[in-house]
Amino acid sequence: MDAAKLMFKDGLMAGERILVTGGGTGLGKEMAEAFVKLGAEVFICGRRGDVLDQTANEIMGKHGGIVRPIACDIRNAEAVHDMVDQIWASGALTGLMNNAAGNFISRTEDLSPRGFEAISNIVFRGSFFVTLDIGKRWIAEKKKGSVCSILTTWVWNGGPFTVPSAMSKAGLHAMTQSLAVEWGRYGIRFNAIAPGSFPTKGAWERLVPERKMDAAPRGGGDNPSLMARVGEMHELCNLAVLLMAPGADYLNGQTIAIDGGQQLAGGGHFFARCGDWGDAEWEAARAAIQGANAKDRTQRTT
Ligand code: HXC
Repeated sequence: MDAAKLMFKDGLMAGERILVTGGGTGLGKEMAEAFVKLGAEVFICGRRGDVLDQTANEIMGKHGGIVRPIACDIRNAEAVHDMVDQIWASGALTGLMNNAAGNFISRTEDLSPRGFEAISNIVFRGSFFVTLDIGKRWIAEKKKGSVCSILTTWVWNGGPFTVPSAMSKAGLHAMTQSLAVEWGRYGIRFNAIAPGSFPTKGAWERLVPERKMDAAPRGGGDNPSLMARVGEMHELCNLAVLLMAPGADYLNGQTIAIDGGQQLAGGGHFFARCGDWGDAEWEAARAAIQGANAKDRTQRTT
C-alpha cells in the first residue's frame, strides 16, 4: 500500500486496539499497516507464526508503532478464546477486522465434504468464533466496539465455482446485518466491505492460477468493470479506516462494495468463464492450487 495515499491524518486511530485476522499476508497485512500508520495498536493473527513475525517487524520498521503477532487457527474456538485472553491481558480491543479467509476455484461437483470444510471452517465458523468471543467481552464490560468483515460482491449475486466461499461470505453478510441490530444497543456496530478484484498472492494462486497478478478476474464474458482495472490497496485501506476509526459511529449494518462498479455492470460473477473449461483445465488448476496449499502448509505452526 502507498501510505502517502491514505486520506486520513496521522494519529486519527491513536488509542484504538484492533485485531486483524489473517493479518500476516494479503489484504489483512495492508489494512494492518494502514491502522498502525494512523496510530492504532494492532494485533495480527494467522496460522503461520514466522509469517506474522515478519509482517509485524516490517510494519513497525516502516511506521513505528505496535504490531503484536499471535499464531492462532481461528477454526478452533478454544484457540480463539486463548488468543483473546492473551490480548485482553493488556486491555480490551476497540475493533475487530474479520479478514481471514480461504478459497479456491473448483467445479462444485468435484468438491468433497473436506474441501467444503477447508473453506467454510475458516470463513463462516472461524469468523463467528472470533466475533462471539470478543463481543461477549464487550457486552460484559459495557464497552463499545466496531466489527468489520471482508466479504465479496458475490454475497449479492452468488459465486459460481467458488460456492463454499460464496455461502460462507453470505453467512457473514447475514451476521453483519443481524448483529448490527441485536448488538447496536450495546454500542457494538457491524459493517462489511465487499471488495472486487484486489490481487494478492494467496487469492490469485487459488482463484486465477492461469493468470497474472495484475489480471482482474472478470465474469459475464469478460465484461469489464466500469473502471476496467483492479483495485489499489490504498483505496481498500481508506474504506477500512473509515469503518474502524472513530467518527462514523452511526454507520452500522452496511456491506459496502468497492469494485469500481463491476458488480453493477454485470461483472460480479468472476469465474463464469470457467464454465467453458474441460477436465484438462480443471485438473491443471487443481494441481496448481494444491501446490500452493502444500507450500503454505509447510510454513504453518498451528
Ligand atoms: C477441489 C480441492 C482443491 C481444488 C483442495 N481441495 N484444493 N478440491 N479442487 N482445487 C480439497 C482437497 O482435496 C481436500 O479434500 C480439502 O480440499 C483440503 O485440501 P488441502 O490441500 O488439505 O487444503 P488446506 O491445506 O486445508 O488448504 C485449503 C485452504 C488454503 C485452507 C483453503 O487454500 C488456504 O490456506 N488458503 C488461504 C489463502 C487463501 O485461500 N486466500 C484466498 C482468499 S480469497 P479431500 O477430501 O481430498 O481430503 C477470498 C475471496 C476473494 O476469500 C475474492 C476475489 C475476487
